[in-house]
Amino acid sequence: MQGVNEIREAFLSFFEKNGHVRRPSAPLVPQNDPTLLFVNAGMVPFKNIFTGVETPFSPRATTSQKCVRAGGKHNDLDNVGYTARHHTFFEMLGNFSFGDYFKDDAIRLAWELITKDYGLDPKRLLVTVYAEDDEAAVIWKKVAGLGDSRIIRIPTSDNFWSMGDTGPCGPCSEIFFDHGDKVAGGPPGSADQDGDRFIEIWNLVFMQFEQHEGGARTSLPKPSIDTGMGLERIAAVLQGKHNNYEIDLFRTLIGSEEEVYGQKAAGDKLASFRVIADHLRTSAFLVADGVLPSNEGRGYVLRRIMRRAMRHGHMLGAREPLMHKLVPALIAEMGKAYPELGRAKVAIETAIEQEEARFQRTLGNGLALLDKAVADLAPGAALPGDVAFRLSDTFGFPLDLTQDILRGRDLEVDVAGFEAALDAQRENSRAAGFSSGDQATEDIWFDVRAKQGATKFSGYGATSGNGTLVAIAAGGGLAATLGAGAAELVFDTTPFYAESGGQAGDHGEIVFDGGARFIVRDVQKRAGDVHVHVGELVSGSLKAGAKAQMKVNQVRRRQVMANHSATHLMHAALRKVLGEHVTQKGSLVDADRLRFDFSHGAPVTPAQIEAVEDEVNAQIRANIETGIKVTSPEKAIEAGALALFGEKYGDEVRVLSMGQAAEDGRPYSVELCGGTHVARSGDIAVFAVLSEGGVSAGVRRIEAATGAEALNYLKGRAQIAADVAESLKVPLKDLPRKVAALSEERRTLERELGEAKRKLAMGGGGGAPSGPEVINGVNLIARVAEGVSGKDLRALVDEAKAKIGSGVVVFVGTEGGKAGVAVGVTKELSATYSAVELVKVAAAAVGGQGGGGRPDMAMAGGPDADKAEAALDAVRAALKG
Ligand code: ALA
Repeated sequence: MQGVNEIREAFLSFFEKNGHVRRPSAPLVPQNDPTLLFVNAGMVPFKNIFTGVETPFSPRATTSQKCVRAGGKHNDLDNVGYTARHHTFFEMLGNFSFGDYFKDDAIRLAWELITKDYGLDPKRLLVTVYAEDDEAAVIWKKVAGLGDSRIIRIPTSDNFWSMGDTGPCGPCSEIFFDHGDKVAGGPPGSADQDGDRFIEIWNLVFMQFEQHEGGARTSLPKPSIDTGMGLERIAAVLQGKHNNYEIDLFRTLIGSEEEVYGQKAAGDKLASFRVIADHLRTSAFLVADGVLPSNEGRGYVLRRIMRRAMRHGHMLGAREPLMHKLVPALIAEMGKAYPELGRAKVAIETAIEQEEARFQRTLGNGLALLDKAVADLAPGAALPGDVAFRLSDTFGFPLDLTQDILRGRDLEVDVAGFEAALDAQRENSRAAGFSSGDQATEDIWFDVRAKQGATKFSGYGATSGNGTLVAIAAGGGLAATLGAGAAELVFDTTPFYAESGGQAGDHGEIVFDGGARFIVRDVQKRAGDVHVHVGELVSGSLKAGAKAQMKVNQVRRRQVMANHSATHLMHAALRKVLGEHVTQKGSLVDADRLRFDFSHGAPVTPAQIEAVEDEVNAQIRANIETGIKVTSPEKAIEAGALALFGEKYGDEVRVLSMGQAAEDGRPYSVELCGGTHVARSGDIAVFAVLSEGGVSAGVRRIEAATGAEALNYLKGRAQIAADVAESLKVPLKDLPRKVAALSEERRTLERELGEAKRKLAMGGGGGAPSGPEVINGVNLIARVAEGVSGKDLRALVDEAKAKIGSGVVVFVGTEGGKAGVAVGVTKELSATYSAVELVKVAAAAVGGQGGGGRPDMAMAGGPDADKAEAALDAVRAALKG
């Protein structure tokens, strides 16, 4: 029996042998399509090659592509765990012809692989073709010798594959495996085709068209081939299993779950084990490709998947985070084929554990709320939308999680009600989503790229150079000439750095032969590697072909370089001070500052920030030369360079080493980076952290500055201290002592002031001591205490009660326009006169309501301090009865 790893390898090496270039899987976050949530098929990374905007790197390719289907067109989340073949994460094996071979070879190669290399019995195979595709049917007959009854013509969209609402598409032919008559179900196209007997194992798409927005369909430049075989499915067939979750890979993962959760994967628990195994893969691969759980976009899909798995863990009895403990088993199974898993191990474990800890805090309470709401439901009623919304908003239950829970009880959610509640809440908040990008302008740059090739960047070693103008864009389209004004220019070669890897584009000036001058305000990369100079023609006129002298603003570039190099050193320092789980989540390097987002579960303390600053400044002082090596990404990563998870690197990468580690003399920081950097660390001069804060769950942000900006910041702080010392008239060095003495003095004064106010209120001040008045034979002390706050009244009342022996005491304290009222009644009178009743009467006079306490002591308040005397009179009146 062949294991998953061997089956994958057999596929890739078969196509390699047949002239295909083997490519590693592209990251799950599409690099070429901002409208697509995740890569959901093997052809997605090659979309622009099929449509002709990009030149193929080779006429044939083969991959095992990571795919996630959990949102959008191909959404499988609901079924996962309960059916035999649904996954949110799966691997798609594929072979691709970019205008090279077509149907003939695609069918021949497929048949050879499955019947020879995989050794499937041809008698158990049958195929479908698109109803109108006679050609495919003829080829199948010729190549496989299949009879007409086993070449089934399907007239529906089942045999017309498209990537999404737009993109490459074409008729397809699917290969089915017959599990035999012990399993119920009919062949494709028959009434009972949804039975499980005939299982699709491979889809061969004859790519011929491109679907555009609005319904138009055009022909691709050249007919091409895209095929997709779900690795989990073919493994099931080859391993004699009917359920994908019984293949070796899943058996191992589920075995590891049994250990971690302490339960057997059997009976009604089995589905939960399968859900966790599937969702573990999706979570780990997404984190490795740079996605973290959050409340919008891709991060929210990940959160939904993680929480669904965690709730199934809860059903298995987990009451503490456990899922992260499965990561080593996953890496053991899949880490060889996907080395990014191993590199991101700590990041994956941390992200899963933190999300589980976060969710566990509310999961139990949410489930209790749900149980109660379900118990209150009328028979057959749906769960009200506002309950589902509360579960989502307060307890972090994504809607589909609530639906998933109710599904087990045959109940539904009032989704319209849920959405109404959500809309109401969203009114004020920004809607999550994806920009579709400016497709029209994007296309221009792909055209320029096709005609002119990539821009050559000459700016690593220089900040000026000569170039030839090859394209002018103005007013949203390409132009042959430019008279004046805003425009975007492309040159064959340029010293101007285009924004990428977080580093801002250069600014500067371009002077053309003939005198025309163009001011560059930004440089952006388009169509992968075309540097687009954005700015304004301030004198003269231009036409394509013009020669130019290009001058980058050097001062600004030097600041940007210092900030970029400091970012590398800080990244290494953060990993040293906080731990290896720190990985870059985003970065922005500009002239005046740098910003760095990274994964870390707690605020960075002031002491840790100081340690990071000290580390970086020590590396700056060591003044070590920056090392730059150009090599392949695989070699660089193997040698330990930090690479961004999820980043797609070209065939060659620059490896930047900076500083020197004290422990072993090796470079302090080694990173893959296309940015521009200082020649020696000493060029950074000085580094200071400006701020630290949270961006989203588990992600922190540090802003920092270098060189003159850092000095200005530090000088600014020193100036503040100097100004304060000056105004307090002490030498700077005595400032802390002085400030401590002043606060102590203030505390003493506050104490004394409080005491004085209290004495005044008790009548012990300058005026004549006044004894109690007597009303209805009851001693009464009734006073207004100006400037005494509510909380100090109680002490006054207690003191007066002690003095009076027997009687009633009322104090109205006024402060900030408001009145506080306290009433005390000595014990033996409290049965006759309740302090609670009296305080209510007094509070009403100052515009307050209520009041509370005990019969011998009660407090209240009101907004009208100027009615304080009236409050005393009200008590007097009450005593008169
Ligand atoms: N792109 C085709 C699929 O996903 C092969 O089925």
